[in-house]
Amino acid sequence: PTPTPTHDHDHDHDHAEILDLDADVLAEHLASVTAWLPVTAAPRHIVDLGCGTGAGTLALLTRFPEARVTAVDSSATHLRRLREKAGAGGVAGRVRTVLADLDTHWPDLSGPDPSGPDPSHPELDRTAPASPDPNRPDLVWASASLHHMADPRRTLRQVHGSLAPGGLFAVVELAGFPRFLPADAPEDRPGLEERCHLASERRHDSRLPHRGADWGPMLTAAGFEVEAERTIAVDIEASPSNAVGRYALSSLRRVRAAVDDHLSPEDLAALDRLLDTDGPHGILHRPDLAVRTRRTVWAARRA
Ligand SMILES: C[S@@+](CC[C@H](N)C(=O)[O-])C[C@H]1O[C@@H](n2cnc3c(N)ncnc32)[C@H](O)[C@@H]1O
Repeated sequence: PTPTPTHDHDHDHDHAEILDLDADVLAEHLASVTAWLPVTAAPRHIVDLGCGTGAGTLALLTRFPEARVTAVDSSATHLRRLREKAGAGGVAGRVRTVLADLDTHWPDLSGPDPSGPDPSHPELDRTAPASPDPNRPDLVWASASLHHMADPRRTLRQVHGSLAPGGLFAVVELAGFPRFLPADAPEDRPGLEERCHLASERRHDSRLPHRGADWGPMLTAAGFEVEAERTIAVDIEASPSNAVGRYALSSLRRVRAAVDDHLSPEDLAALDRLLDTDGPHGILHRPDLAVRTRRTVWAARRA
């Protein structure tokens, strides 16, 4: 059935929480990625494509204090959250949000909307296609968003066309869903987490065929010169001072909703015991909880 707006909103709200927790838990890793970017000069105008709630936007504003960011996403809920966070961080004046579904409409990424904001939808972009402009972005960042595009090869060509000559395109992608438990956990159903992900990946594979793709050759085919590629391993143990527990709980709740038809009743019951924060087997009580994942970054130059 077609989701109602309420469902969409709830879905976006849950997703926004996970994106915020991800940004919080992986903040140091993200800072090391932005520090590593092979920029030739400090960028002035950065575009964050599929910005979500702004993990990349805010990290890039910190890394490049002279820059402003155009943050593009198809979710109004995420963009609202991003603006709240930018306001709380005192950087709202350096961020422009653009509501756009990049599958159907490529916004003008050069500068402010010359047609002025739509008063009923101030963030709705209604501008013409990109034209040569001194305000073209010199850095485009796309983190965990390219694999969502219906035709990512076209998106890569559009980014190439929008970037200033000599500009950099940074693609960050996830190796897969993070793992939170050791492979032999929980005691009564060892390997449960792996089975959950197998079930959810089988569903995603048909919907998101570019998840886990090698973006290097696709970037080259779109006209970029891939200058560097780096994979970082993430392994962060839960502690009272970090949000790993909440991140694991929110993420596995979302997995639960995606796999409930595809797991055995025994696995589903074990997953529910892990997700029961009041029960003795809840993951928040486990001393072996951690976030383990890998992220790969490609730095590609428009010649
Ligand atoms: C996994 S999230 C990543 C968010 C953020 N870049 C980060 O690293 O935290 C993917 C984002 O891409 C956005 N997205 C997916 N398809 C899109 C499209 N066709 N146009 C614009 N944004 C899209 C989603 O709304 C979501 O915010």
